[in-house]
Amino acid sequence: MNHNFLTYCEINLDGIIHNLRWVKNKVGEKVKICFAGTKANGYGYGIFEVAEAAIQSKVVDYLGVAVPDEGIYLRKKGVKTPIIVFGNILPEFAEDVVEYDLTQTVCTTDVCEALSYHSKRKKKFVRVHIKVDTGMGRIGVYPEKVIPFIRKISRLPNIYIEGIYSHLSSVGRDDEFTKQQINGFFCVLKEIEKKNIKIPLKHLANSAAIKRIPETYLDMVRPGSIIFNADIPELKQIFSLKSKVVYIKKVPANYRIGYRGNYITRKATKIATVALGYIDGYPFLLGDGKWKIIINERYFPVVGRVCMDQIMVDVGNANVKIGDEVIIIGKSKSCEIKINDVFQQVDFYNFLAPSIGIRVPRIYIKDDKIYKIRTIFGDIYERD
Ligand SMILES: Cc1ncc(COP(=O)(O)O)c(C=O)c1O
Repeated sequence: MNHNFLTYCEINLDGIIHNLRWVKNKVGEKVKICFAGTKANGYGYGIFEVAEAAIQSKVVDYLGVAVPDEGIYLRKKGVKTPIIVFGNILPEFAEDVVEYDLTQTVCTTDVCEALSYHSKRKKKFVRVHIKVDTGMGRIGVYPEKVIPFIRKISRLPNIYIEGIYSHLSSVGRDDEFTKQQINGFFCVLKEIEKKNIKIPLKHLANSAAIKRIPETYLDMVRPGSIIFNADIPELKQIFSLKSKVVYIKKVPANYRIGYRGNYITRKATKIATVALGYIDGYPFLLGDGKWKIIINERYFPVVGRVCMDQIMVDVGNANVKIGDEVIIIGKSKSCEIKINDVFQQVDFYNFLAPSIGIRVPRIYIKDDKIYKIRTIFGDIYERD
């Protein structure tokens, strides 16, 4: 399929499959995988396409979503894989959770009561996972409150406590605190065992823990960012962002470039204008000579303030023409800018796909070919 977008991103679904299989291989046959990467519109990469790839990998046992709406959307698209809602809900969402056979994270009794009420009424069983706050400070029951909480909700009809989990906040950044979180969760699990309470799925590990701390694997791991950021050599890069040179001009020395004249040329040079800006997700912090892009197998600096829909690049006397491809994230024959290189320049999560603007077409690649194109005006399907 040909397209003539100036700026677009490519999402390599084959890479998602490869990376999930790598995780499976790392954690071992007995450990289940809950793919957190479907959460929040598939980390911004597109919930359905990402879920489809995850299911195709055949190593995923659960899909994780942020809110019931995402789970309902996947169910309506025909997804049968178990889906867990990671976020806490309001009691009024319980009916949908039950209706669409979602598994719900719980940490309040009113939500459990609502889930129980609707599952009894619909003659169903709703699966819940108890969230324990061991130090993330987001949602979850305090460790010392877990047993009383279990006692309370176990009395409710038509609820099945399938899982219990916690979330690590500082892996790789604060070893001491991570140890405290792990020990806190293990103490809860010991208490549960002592009381002879059977909960089949105990889980703790996010991407960082999968990479570094095997003792956290337990019954299931929850990889998310590792699949997309691919920050270890064994993993495939799944994302690229490309644009084109739309204008080129020779400028003299002492020429002001961009808003506020932040860049003033020291000598005569050529300035290439590229068709993306901060509205498309290019980080504002990466102008003013602080970052680079690739044109024709060479790196060039982005100069001047980043504009809403354009950036300027000082290409010196290189042979750069209007229409030449510009790689913002991705690989040419001899150069590469990885998504993680960009993360390290800005504060880690500033440049995930969610920040890629809505007007940038998403081109999905499967079996090395274009599979689907999503634009702001609708989807263009290439292959089923
Ligand atoms: C409950 C839960 N588990 C796992 C993850 C995955 O985290 P990461 O992207 O660090 O792997 C998330 C993501 O925010 C989450 O909310």
